[in-house]
Amino acid sequence: MRMADILDRKRNGETLTRQEIEYFVNGYTKAQIPDYQASALLMAICIRGMTDAETADLTDCMARSGAQMDLSAIDGITADKHSTGGVGDKTTLVVVPVCAAAGLKMAKMSGRGLGHTGGTIDKLESIPGFRTDLSMEAFFEQVNRIGLAITGQTAELAPADQKLYALRDASGTVSSIPLIASSIMSKKLAAGAQNIALDVKCGSGALMPLESDARHLAKQMVEIGKRCGRNVTAVITDMDAPLGTHIGNALEVTEACAVLKGRGDRDLRTLCLILSAHLIAMSLQKSQEEAFAIAEQALMSGAAFQKLWEMVVCQGGDAAVLEQESCFLQAKCTKTVFSPQSGYIAHTHAKRVGECASLLGAGRETKADRIDPAAGLILTKKTGAHIERGEPLATLFAADEDRLQAGEARFLASLTFSPQPPEKRPLIFDTIS
Ligand code: URA
Repeated sequence: MRMADILDRKRNGETLTRQEIEYFVNGYTKAQIPDYQASALLMAICIRGMTDAETADLTDCMARSGAQMDLSAIDGITADKHSTGGVGDKTTLVVVPVCAAAGLKMAKMSGRGLGHTGGTIDKLESIPGFRTDLSMEAFFEQVNRIGLAITGQTAELAPADQKLYALRDASGTVSSIPLIASSIMSKKLAAGAQNIALDVKCGSGALMPLESDARHLAKQMVEIGKRCGRNVTAVITDMDAPLGTHIGNALEVTEACAVLKGRGDRDLRTLCLILSAHLIAMSLQKSQEEAFAIAEQALMSGAAFQKLWEMVVCQGGDAAVLEQESCFLQAKCTKTVFSPQSGYIAHTHAKRVGECASLLGAGRETKADRIDPAAGLILTKKTGAHIERGEPLATLFAADEDRLQAGEARFLASLTFSPQPPEKRPLIFDTIS
């Protein structure tokens, strides 16, 4: 087989065979195929697209390019979730304990944040002492014993995706839907769970701002799951405004705890229950209504909060922060942002709010940047609320005044006011299973 022939065929819009895709993925992972040929193929895929069968083959080959988690060592039904990312998205911190309290086995590998979106591992590391580098042995033992563990994604998981993602970033080929779908799903397949819920976001803070693109991506990922023998449900959800009210690592842990104690933002709570219910329905063969009731019971009884507590203790974290937010390291400087005008908040541009959080110190622009766990913001008023000039809009938290100033400017630039209330966007656009 020759890479030049594969390139010719994809350039001409032909369908690649499993053998050709395997040749490319294995050859590139082992550095036998040079970057210039790989990036030419990625660009041809961007322009010509891929059939469902090609996309599933690409995903499967990437999933097999490194270690595959054998969850047979886990006693019970395994489930996993993935979000395409957003601002204030702390759903994993709620969904994993809710599902564990419902009896599922949640062996979750998560990533760090980059750019305007946050990462679960950064959020958990804001808990003093919390370890996110569990050995596979410790990870499985903990899941068997208490039903849940969240650890960092290892470099051995889908190494082909890690190489190809970096190349896509440098070759203008990130935005291709088959490439995104195969990238996300290769890691989910390699992580091993049988039942997978995908939260595919759309709106100003999402990877796919357009609902139509989010729907296309969701369909492709569900199709890949089906072809690769996994149960997958995708929910298309809103990320036009931040999710919940707290953005920033320790702040988001605090908000997740509030939801687990039966309080907190209503949209956040509803979305967490819906995602949990999909996993419970797939895993325990329940209707969505029955599964929702199980999830609600796990949350309202305090059983899910207890699961988060157990996980934090098992992974070496100081669980006192879950009860008492003042036990978290506090930001040195805070600032209240007041409204420059009266009216309705017509739009809160989620991506700009995410950039504001990064300017405050909560995010990173490059992988090497250090984050400040205490930095971030709490929204006092959300989209749709009426506000008078001079009323508080948000509180910002940072390590110094310069960061507060930069953050305030970006936060104010995220808001649009109007004399009329805006039309409410749905929380859930669609469900694909
Ligand atoms: N997240 C991924 O893991 N891969 C992509 O291609 C885009 C988002």
